[in-house]
Amino acid sequence: MAITKSLALLALSGLSSFGFAAPLEVRDDTVSTDVFEKLSFFEQYAAAAYCQENNNSTDTKVTCSEKNCDSVEAADTNTLTEFENSKKTDATGFVTTDSTNKLIVLAFRGSKSIDNWAANLDFQMEDVSFCSDCRVHSGFLESWNEVQDGVINAVKGAQAEFPDFKVVATGHSLGGAVATIAAAALRTIDISVDLYTYGAPKSGNDEWAEFLGSTDKGMSFRVVHKHDLIPTLPPSIPFFMPYAHVQPEYYITTDNNVEVTANDIKVVPDGDDGGIDIASHLWYFNHISACDGLIDMKVKRMIGSDSLW
Ligand SMILES: *[C@@H]1O[C@H](CO)[C@@H](O)[C@H](O)[C@H]1NC(C)=O
Ligand SMILES: *[C@@H]1O[C@H](CO)[C@@H](O)[C@H](O)[C@H]1NC(C)=O
Repeated sequence: MAITKSLALLALSGLSSFGFAAPLEVRDDTVSTDVFEKLSFFEQYAAAAYCQENNNSTDTKVTCSEKNCDSVEAADTNTLTEFENSKKTDATGFVTTDSTNKLIVLAFRGSKSIDNWAANLDFQMEDVSFCSDCRVHSGFLESWNEVQDGVINAVKGAQAEFPDFKVVATGHSLGGAVATIAAAALRTIDISVDLYTYGAPKSGNDEWAEFLGSTDKGMSFRVVHKHDLIPTLPPSIPFFMPYAHVQPEYYITTDNNVEVTANDIKVVPDGDDGGIDIASHLWYFNHISACDGLIDMKVKRMIGSDSLW
């Protein structure tokens, strides 16, 4: 069963790079120290979304039981809403203020459905009103729709209290896709949001990617680790499934379990790079999903090994 799934995924990821994808153009320049620090900092918020202590105890500090969010733990945070397993989808995450760094952070995760999503090849799109001709993945949109009221209210409330705080949305994997939709939704109602995603799948069509890439209402940083399979999905098939990624891509060139420095991140203008390694999906600056035993277990089963790295 696991093998069948992996083969289906391999076939699909092959399809996505067959014929359509432009050759990968890696610029020589690496990221600035400032960008590097932001990429590694917001990864920690994405990691915190996996930790159970941040899923249903609103009005508390953000912590990570697996000690993979030290910089976030060092900040003065207080969650405004925490949510878990919304009714139909498994949208889980939180909105928090970070008074140390003057931020309002939205962090999402979506782990339960990751294998269902990939194995069922559920790549259906639907129209969305955020931008003209935009279409997004139905399942990710449903996740966002379920939590949007609580999230938008929390952000608006926090902005009223802290008007100079910057709003940032972040998430890993399917959580990155939901964070992407959250950023678009907030930008549409005139709230500037910076977006940081890690190992996110594609969430919508070309128009959608273009809308998210425009910087009028905030920057978008899409981080992909070498060989990560998930960002190659869904496959991009013109007309039928015109999935596209927000560009550019911030591409981490180091292996699993290796510390990342600014020199290890390349800016890939037309990136849709990734590969066939499921384990590398879980290594972004650190073991991003460490707080979630379930996702680790699923990945171990998929790769047929007891150890991830
Ligand atoms: C949220 O945390 C509680 C423990 O506080 C845990 O029992 C529950 O499974 C968690 N929910 C999710 C979706 O992780
Ligand atoms: C969090 O979830 C756990 C398990 O689902 C539950 O036992 C606990 O009461 C919840 N805590 C709050 C504050 O809702």
